[in-house]
Amino acid sequence: MSIRIGIIGAGGMANYHIPGFRAAGAEVVAIADVKGDAAARAAARYNIPQSYTSVARMLAHEKLDAVSIITPNKFHQPLTLQALAAKKHVFCEKPPAMNAAEASVMAKAASKARRQLIFNFNNRARPEAYAMMDYIRKGAFGKINSAQALWIRRTGIPGFGGWFTTKKLSGGGPVIDLLHMIDLALYFMDYPQPDWVLAQTFRDFIDDKAFKGPWGIPDVARGVTDVEAAAHGFVTFKTGQVLFLRNSWAELNRGEEISVTFQGTKAGGTVRRTFGRDGLDETSIDTCQLFLQENGRSVNRDIIVPADPSMGRIRSASNFVQAIAKHEAPLNTPDQAVKLMKIIDAVYASARSGKPVKVR
Ligand SMILES: NC(=O)c1ccc[n+]([C@@H]2O[C@H](COP(=O)([O-])OP(=O)(O)OC[C@H]3O[C@@H](n4cnc5c(N)ncnc54)[C@H](O)[C@@H]3O)[C@@H](O)[C@H]2O)c1
Repeated sequence: MSIRIGIIGAGGMANYHIPGFRAAGAEVVAIADVKGDAAARAAARYNIPQSYTSVARMLAHEKLDAVSIITPNKFHQPLTLQALAAKKHVFCEKPPAMNAAEASVMAKAASKARRQLIFNFNNRARPEAYAMMDYIRKGAFGKINSAQALWIRRTGIPGFGGWFTTKKLSGGGPVIDLLHMIDLALYFMDYPQPDWVLAQTFRDFIDDKAFKGPWGIPDVARGVTDVEAAAHGFVTFKTGQVLFLRNSWAELNRGEEISVTFQGTKAGGTVRRTFGRDGLDETSIDTCQLFLQENGRSVNRDIIVPADPSMGRIRSASNFVQAIAKHEAPLNTPDQAVKLMKIIDAVYASARSGKPVKVR
């Protein structure tokens, strides 16, 4: 019997969740959005039989095995708890929650309900990440001592005054929005226990219309813009490993770069996407490389992988279905999400205090 899924929130990522679920053999049977017209339009576009304006009604009326949550960040935790209480598996967009305390409650609820709770860290499902993990698991890099995680944009503010730039709806700016590379670096490093975080955030350009990206949500004329534009930070781990991070929506960088580079005791590596123009996928170039010393020489190896313009988003939605069916291991776990959110919390706390923050 196929797995029956309901979508919560007709956000842009539905474009990837729905084909990903269907590719893995699941049925998308309903969609709920507080805006009835958004739900009805998405239902028509994706050929989904039922649409709802109330999540509670969708959960009560439909025989669902699982839901996917594609709403502004503030609603990730309450909707996840509501779905888990109804014994549904949950695929939730990133960030997992507004902070670590919320993520921790979600992790406990998933464990109690004995249901999958998987977050959409779609960059783990990119062909480059699968390839890198194959090499990492076979020991090609030795111990990964250090990594640098970057998601930096020059002109990439996703709209002014909407939920993305309103801290009480989003949890923060690019640190929390573009947390994918921090997650990917931690994944490569085997998710070590964080120890200390020292970081700074900057607000320059956050109100400057010249720094708006080519995507995002419509501007809200009298809306709030109270989040950071850029962040730089350093994380140490109990294992002795270290991570340098940079995230920006608006900063005077060369242009958009999405990358994790790391240095191991046997080899180094990088997974990198660079852009000709910020945010325009057709201008992007992906690389996946190994750095070695061989026969007394410095050798760089390109790992050739198929192109994936969806950046793993379809594959990661398929993994959710495969994990419910127990055909694949989940690509991420709630415990990892809690650790990641503790680092994010500490980045903001360190930026506020100007001091290193101990992660507990
Ligand atoms: N993985 C990725 O690459 C990626 C990319 C973009 C956005 N996202 C994430 O997807 C989520 C949604 O972002 P978006 O840009 O699509 O937002 P959006 O504002 O375009 O869409 C969100 C939808 O959720 C609906 N909604 C709001 N509250 C709701 C509730 N309580 N119940 C039901 N529906 C509700 C809204 O009416 C809206 O239609 C965010 O968490 C964002 O971080 C992930």
